[in-house]
Amino acid sequence: MKNTAAFLLIMLSVVLEVQAQTHEDRYRPTDWPDHVILNLTEEGNERTITWRTDTSAGPQSVQWLVADASSNLEEKAKTAAAHSEMIQTEEVLAQYSTYHFKGLTAGITYAYRVGAKEHWSEWYQFNIPHEDQAFTFLYFGDAQNDMRDLWSRCIRKATDLSEEVDFMLHAGDMVDFASANREWGEWFFGGGWMFASTPQVPVAGNHEYVRKNGQPALNHYWRASFTVPLNGPAGLEETVYYFDYENVRFIVLDSRDMLIDDEHAKRQAHWLETLLKNNDQKWTIISHHHPIYSARANRGDYKVRAWLEPLYDKYGVDLVLQGHHHSFARGRGEKEVGKEMFSGPVYYVSNSGPKMYDTNFAPWMERVGTDVQLFHQVKVVDNTIEVLTYLVNGELYDHIKLTKRANGDKEFHEIAIEGIKERLDFSHASYGADIDLGEENRKRFKKMAEEYLRKRQKR
Ligand SMILES: [Fe+2]
Repeated sequence: MKNTAAFLLIMLSVVLEVQAQTHEDRYRPTDWPDHVILNLTEEGNERTITWRTDTSAGPQSVQWLVADASSNLEEKAKTAAAHSEMIQTEEVLAQYSTYHFKGLTAGITYAYRVGAKEHWSEWYQFNIPHEDQAFTFLYFGDAQNDMRDLWSRCIRKATDLSEEVDFMLHAGDMVDFASANREWGEWFFGGGWMFASTPQVPVAGNHEYVRKNGQPALNHYWRASFTVPLNGPAGLEETVYYFDYENVRFIVLDSRDMLIDDEHAKRQAHWLETLLKNNDQKWTIISHHHPIYSARANRGDYKVRAWLEPLYDKYGVDLVLQGHHHSFARGRGEKEVGKEMFSGPVYYVSNSGPKMYDTNFAPWMERVGTDVQLFHQVKVVDNTIEVLTYLVNGELYDHIKLTKRANGDKEFHEIAIEGIKERLDFSHASYGADIDLGEENRKRFKKMAEEYLRKRQKR
């Protein structure tokens, strides 16, 4: 009996040990493709696809064709060799492969799979939309923590609620520790097949930077995992880029880099001004991680504001999509708050993951939310842009509409949000002792919330 008990105990510890290893190892590369992700290029009729395998998986290929309803895809697909590189990231050596789809046709759905020999991904499909000046994209603030357990429901609800999405934009801090293979594994797990079927637009945040030789540097997973347009200023091409999509110029900046290095900040600002000056698109949308206007009580505005805000105002940038402060705020430059006609951008600070901070109820804010995970549908139809903000459970939280007149003047409308109560409670602290408000601060916070609501009603 004693022996049997001891044997069972040993078996149990072996099983637990195996389970623990399995959990830790589940995000390591294998000979099956993973981290499959579709990205946009500078050209509307091109896409890039990037994926990962282990180093023994062999030369990788793509099989692809115009999708139809028949299932014999393999027989009809053409096969093309991928470009592959062995890349040593901070924690793993893996083979990263990429393929550049060219000459695609608007209005057509394509099917593809990636892999080699016996180890292929499932067949994915992606669509090249019609050129009709109308499209929708999704915008997410920081995912950052528990991307598998808690962030996944955000991107999945966003996908459920959205009929056709042209691409998804992630405004930085997709992970917490960017050197950790497991964290990127969780982020890719959360996005799953959506990442392989809808182009993703990554924006670098402070958490995408790690320390190398005592200096901050972009993590190795970034360049390996994403294939973005390499049209940024010299030396910053991986995280600073632009693309024109229908009638919108999209510009992605690297605010972390601007904060680290004044010379780089100057280079980004100069590059940005050239793009804004020579821009014949109707709309301009910019994304970077650090907000121009602070949304958090104990954090001031960043010096990126000094570099960027004058250019945004001068060239009438329309939307600025940001993250970093782990709450929701939407508003305009301080001189334009509450106005129907305006000229500068509408600023968003957003948060898609589970980390929550309080807010500072700053004068620029026209709509606020605390203790919320959310996502945004941005719908562009010719001379209008609507931004619909949803909570992670699918409830509509905020809805605005911008209209651009022929002379360039902009109208601003809040649509049917009077009935939606703003979430301004901050009852719990998460992800860090520094944000445990304590009873005194909670009372102060409540007072600030009441004051904010009073001011808002007067507008
Ligand atoms: Fe951040």
